[in-house]
Amino acid sequence: MSDTRPAAVIVLAAGGGTRMKSRVPKVLHRIGGQSLIGRALGAARGLDPQTLVAVVGHGREQVVPHIESLDADVTLAVQEEQLGTGHAVQCALAALADAGDRADAGDRAGSGLEGTVLVTYGDVPLLTTGALADLVARHTAAGNAVSVLTAVVQDPTGYGRVVREPGDAGDMVAAIVEQRDADEEQLAIREINSGIYAFDAAVLVDALGRIRTDNAQGELYLTDVAAIARGDGRRVGAVRADDVWQTEGVNDRVQLSRLGAELNRRTLERHMRAGVTVVDPASTWLDDTVTCEPDVTLLPGVQLHGHSRVATGATVGPDCTLTDVVVGPGASVVRCHGSGAVVGQGATVGPFAYLRPGTTLGAEGKIGTFVETKNAAIAESAKVPHLSYVGDAEIGEHSNIGAGTIFANYDGVQKNRSTVGAHCKTGSNNTFVAPVEIGDGAASGAGTVVRRDVPPGALAVSTGPQRNIEGWTQRKRAGTAAAEAAQAAQAARTSSAAGTGGVGAATPARDTEDESSAPSGPSEGKQQ
Ligand code: UD1
Ligand code: CA
Repeated sequence: MSDTRPAAVIVLAAGGGTRMKSRVPKVLHRIGGQSLIGRALGAARGLDPQTLVAVVGHGREQVVPHIESLDADVTLAVQEEQLGTGHAVQCALAALADAGDRADAGDRAGSGLEGTVLVTYGDVPLLTTGALADLVARHTAAGNAVSVLTAVVQDPTGYGRVVREPGDAGDMVAAIVEQRDADEEQLAIREINSGIYAFDAAVLVDALGRIRTDNAQGELYLTDVAAIARGDGRRVGAVRADDVWQTEGVNDRVQLSRLGAELNRRTLERHMRAGVTVVDPASTWLDDTVTCEPDVTLLPGVQLHGHSRVATGATVGPDCTLTDVVVGPGASVVRCHGSGAVVGQGATVGPFAYLRPGTTLGAEGKIGTFVETKNAAIAESAKVPHLSYVGDAEIGEHSNIGAGTIFANYDGVQKNRSTVGAHCKTGSNNTFVAPVEIGDGAASGAGTVVRRDVPPGALAVSTGPQRNIEGWTQRKRAGTAAAEAAQAAQAARTSSAAGTGGVGAATPARDTEDESSAPSGPSEGKQQ
């Protein structure tokens, strides 16, 4: 491993990215849930270099804090003006020397850099640690002073061309010639420079001191290091990339989506090979930070982001967007938008559920249809089946919350928490005005507005007895269709009651007012 541990990896990220047509610096654009620069630095960090340098310039007031938030150990080199890739690496070496001076004056200071230095770009998002390690290994094995990662492509337009030495030394690179500086013959070369290199540190430092701006763009080209080193008789090799995708850069938003789709394809393939069923890869998008255990099924239209984890036997989809959501073994989540939530083993969610941060659903629990939850701990086998908002609440095990229940957690000044005990059964269309506590085994009638605590085993009712005001429509809405319908129905009831002798056929309407004095029990709220 020490063989492949480079002295430094330099990630160039100072360019403007004008073709992105964005106020956001190019390297902060994301694929697979992570910024381009985050991916580049992650791949480089995987090699465990002695120093990891990022060269920043354009938009660095946004780029620097982002890098610092990802990896506090990155050495930042500022390139004030983008004078070319060679100049960018000069800036990196200067920052390295500074860092070295500060760390251990004398030892690694100044141009005393030794070992292998890698250069990559911040906008090449599919490059992996493995590909970089392979470059270092092949560079070292060949005894090269410079190794250029190359690719043979159908259309080399825009890339630097890799000019090989003639004759016996054809495995050596004579020069890298930029598109704009190339002659007819060179333009026909289909082997391109990926812009990713391994250098012997001393050779790099020396050659960078000798590059000039005498080219079509008037820039300091890093690519000129190849011809300078070769001119000194050193070994300058080409390492062909096995996987061209890994060398592709993002210059515009078309490439951003192309590489994003390829990353997703690779992520899904990895999961499928590990035992995950992905019914429709084309409509399934997973960040590469997501974990799925074997025998997970992802139905069409699923997006899993961040640190979402799906356990074995669970089914997610169709049509779910979950960010940092943990789905337990055997659970089912259908048409759900969720973040920062935990769904227990065998639990069911949806269709049409909105899980907000702080939601936990216990094993075999249920968050059903048109239900929104936030900071809600819903225990094992508890159910919130229909049309409810559960915010800042705890619901005990085996309790059932009636349809259309609102946990009114906000009094206009602050949020308050409510607790429902175990084995409670609350009626439909309840409002729990927080903070309230409902004891174990308690119940509530339909339409209850719970403003005070309910002791264990109590039935809470807050609605008064129902009163029916007979003939109201006919009197107050005379002449309307409703009044006519009521009149006709009333007439039919009267005549049918008369026809059958009247006993029990129709409850005399007059009496209903008094009958409803019994409290409405929880059974009225039963909606499964
Ligand atoms: C460069 C190579 C070319 C190669 C191509 C691969 C040179 C001269 N040419 O060309 O041979 O085929 O990459 O993509 O190196 N950057 C800085 N500071 C600068 C200039 C560039 O940090 O002053 C960074 C950019 O942000 C970018 C990378 O270096 O990430 C490449 O720069 P770019 O201008 O895209 O180089 P190309 O012209 O594409
Ligand atoms: Ca480029």
